[in-house]
Amino acid sequence: MGSLSGRRIVLGVTGSIAAYKSALVVRELVKAGAQVRVVMTPGAKEFITPLTLGTLSGQAVHSALTEDRDSGTWTDHVELGLWGDVVLVAPATAHTLSGMVEGRGDSLLLTVLLSAKCPVVVAPAMDRDMFTHAATTDNLETLRQRGVHIIEPDTGELASGLSGKGRMAEPDRIRQELTEWFRSQAPLMGYRALITSGPTREPIDAVRFIGNRSSGRQGAAIALELARRGMLVDYISGPSSIPTDHPGIRRVDVETALDMKAAAEAAMAHALPDAVIGTAAVADVRPATTISGKAAKTDLPDAISMVPNPDILAGINAVVSPECFKVGFALAHGNGQEAALRKLEAKNCDMIVLNSITDKGAGFEHTTNRVDFVYGPDRIDSFELKTKEAVAEDLANEVQRQLLLRAPLKQSGR
Ligand SMILES: Cc1cc2nc3c(=O)[nH]c(=O)nc-3n(C[C@H](O)[C@H](O)[C@H](O)COP(=O)(O)O)c2cc1C
Repeated sequence: MGSLSGRRIVLGVTGSIAAYKSALVVRELVKAGAQVRVVMTPGAKEFITPLTLGTLSGQAVHSALTEDRDSGTWTDHVELGLWGDVVLVAPATAHTLSGMVEGRGDSLLLTVLLSAKCPVVVAPAMDRDMFTHAATTDNLETLRQRGVHIIEPDTGELASGLSGKGRMAEPDRIRQELTEWFRSQAPLMGYRALITSGPTREPIDAVRFIGNRSSGRQGAAIALELARRGMLVDYISGPSSIPTDHPGIRRVDVETALDMKAAAEAAMAHALPDAVIGTAAVADVRPATTISGKAAKTDLPDAISMVPNPDILAGINAVVSPECFKVGFALAHGNGQEAALRKLEAKNCDMIVLNSITDKGAGFEHTTNRVDFVYGPDRIDSFELKTKEAVAEDLANEVQRQLLLRAPLKQSGR
């Protein structure tokens, strides 16, 4: 697995003589496992062709805000900004850096930078005197203060014939520094999580179903917290309106337990997770048959015969690697410790997060939760009532501790 495996990088290329090196930057990033989408300024096309960068990245290259005047098509800069885990501008000209500071939107790249929700990294490249000019120094300082990470240029011979600081960092240093920087921002970069969340709906007919009161709020909070720490999260959600917008979260929305199982299997066929968090309130049973269309009131059966649904979490836990940290959720009525211990074994989990609907403010339909982490009969850690986001942080701390113990070498770049 490459050090940037699965990362989505929007690479901005601007009109510097160093733009020819962006071909090598693309190669370095792709070799490290990243997906790269290139956005060029019109100026960059004077130095290197979209064909080169498109071929190396395996993706269409974008440079214009509008694509085809006749058909009215345009490049969705907002979509590009949201797609990336990071926007890397390499090389970054003095012109584009000043455009970033001013918040200008006169190139596709600048509009992507304005709409990006993800972090931004720049590798400036310019002549010595341009680099040391007060305007450039001030612009870089402003960007640094806004949280932009700057990959310092090298000192040496410059294309102008001058010698000094301003030469773009070599592509392998850009890749290394990007990896390092990612890791400092995101201690769990390089690890994957599989999270099931929300309720399932088991259809009786086309409009009626058997469901439950799970909102998906706790699972969403966990997914967001793990993604913020750098994990790639496969998030499989039953019907839930709770948003999970983060470039590190690959969300699949499903309805039934069988759909959820299939989606989990599809995610695992792609890559096995390092942590599994089964927060979904999966219906234990489903109607044995589904009435096609909407049954008239008078045609509704007096009784519905049910068949058991598969145990999704047990199925997942049976195929993951031994190092994988496996967490289940148990919702109890009253003291559920015995049920949690049974679940721990039956589902082959390492830990059960136990919450009780009889605890005030806990469980479904609340923004707060009160949980116990159940590892076994001799270890149960109890927590106070807190927001679901704070519970997600407690759980993420435990996931982090476990993963760095179980599979330390997976941490990216190690
Ligand atoms: C041969 C040549 C080399 C250039 N190299 C650089 C450079 O390394 N860094 C820089 O900031 N500008 C450089 N420029 C100037 C930029 O191309 C110019 O400022 C342009 O407007 C940048 O636009 P962009 O940032 O939208 O790509 C160069 C211009 C030419 C003609």
